[in-house]
Amino acid sequence: MKIAVPKELRDSETRVAMSPDMIKRLVGMGLEVMVETGAGARAMLPDSQYQMAGAAIGTDANETYSDADIVLKVRRPMSADEGLDELAMIKRDTVLIGLLEPFSDKNIAATFAKAGVIAFAMELLPRISRAQTMDVISSQSNLAGYRAVIEAAAAFGKAFPMMMTAAGTIAPAKVLVLGAGVAGLQAIATARRLGAVVSAFDVRPAVKEQVESLGAKFIEVANTESGDAETLGGYAKEMGQEYKRQQSKLIGETLKNQNIAISTALIQGKSAPQLITEEMVKDMRQGSVIVDLAVESGGNCSISVCDQVAVKHGVTIIGFSNMPGRAPIDASALYARNLVNFVTPMIDAETRNLAIDWSDEIVKGTIITRDGEIVHPALIDKEDL
Ligand code: NAI
Repeated sequence: MKIAVPKELRDSETRVAMSPDMIKRLVGMGLEVMVETGAGARAMLPDSQYQMAGAAIGTDANETYSDADIVLKVRRPMSADEGLDELAMIKRDTVLIGLLEPFSDKNIAATFAKAGVIAFAMELLPRISRAQTMDVISSQSNLAGYRAVIEAAAAFGKAFPMMMTAAGTIAPAKVLVLGAGVAGLQAIATARRLGAVVSAFDVRPAVKEQVESLGAKFIEVANTESGDAETLGGYAKEMGQEYKRQQSKLIGETLKNQNIAISTALIQGKSAPQLITEEMVKDMRQGSVIVDLAVESGGNCSISVCDQVAVKHGVTIIGFSNMPGRAPIDASALYARNLVNFVTPMIDAETRNLAIDWSDEIVKGTIITRDGEIVHPALIDKEDL
């Protein structure tokens, strides 16, 4: 069994799918691993470290992909119109694992099906206890939440903590976190550690206790609909018009007194809810900072721009995509561990061959294409994707 770890080709991608530590684990399981030369460079992992861990180094993408039984990627392979046709280098029936963005474009799953790969989209992993160690969305969101606060602090022209000095007293920064999931909770914890006064808002009342246990104030919309804001999988639902109206009023009022807003709100499979309008930005204090972590899904702020830092109405709006990629060393290390935990049950410990349990909930939840067909129900049903 051969495992390939190609170099990520997109300019914005700094992460790599495998760390030397995790390669040792794969090699220990009797697998052969090939890492493309330079794959870890942007995460400060030179080829020599991979070699010491037992990997062979592929001289280019073609050599790395050509013989693989399993391909481990961060982002989905590129197609010809994006630059290099990576998918064409993968032989049929190869297992492809990564953040494959199956919902971002209706053609993606069809392209994988046509290429005949057995594709697993890690963003579809079921949120069950058994899958926690494989949960790349959690490991990456956690770092994104941390990094969002660091970016906000760097762009903010004031200090975060209260400081009492001979030259006068500096008031602590006020931070509002919108969406208190994995990223939001880490943003709260990081902003608190920096000394800010933090409030947080979420449609799911279940997170109130978690927000408060981190020392932040929970802001609630008093609406009966909030009792029904969560899906069985723990995700947020899209709320009704009346709730949205009340929510918008509350967020607008709260933002007037804040210095920083970190927005992380997402609804699975849909565009991000729009929570901060341009009118609200106009009413914020001059010098405030907004970090829109949902920018890749359409944005929580109506005027944030993907991969840009813009100053509008005296407010700095940060719209970096791939926030985890701004901490590539930790992001790659955690991602690699998640993937090894995901792939290990697929390999027979004795024969060292692929032994995928097609009836397993985790396999069924993440697989999108097999035998030339799209097999994930969420993709088959969505004709209009
Ligand atoms: P997410 O990234 O899908 O959304 C981020 C947050 O935005 C969520 O807290 C959501 O409630 C909130 N949100 C959505 N619409 C909003 C709106 N209109 N206004 C304000 N907030 C809004 O969520 P994430 O972080 O991936 O976590 C989702 C759930 O999954 C959580 O309950 C988490 O505890 C659970 N989870 C379970 C795991 C497991 O058991 N393996 C692992 C990780 C998370």
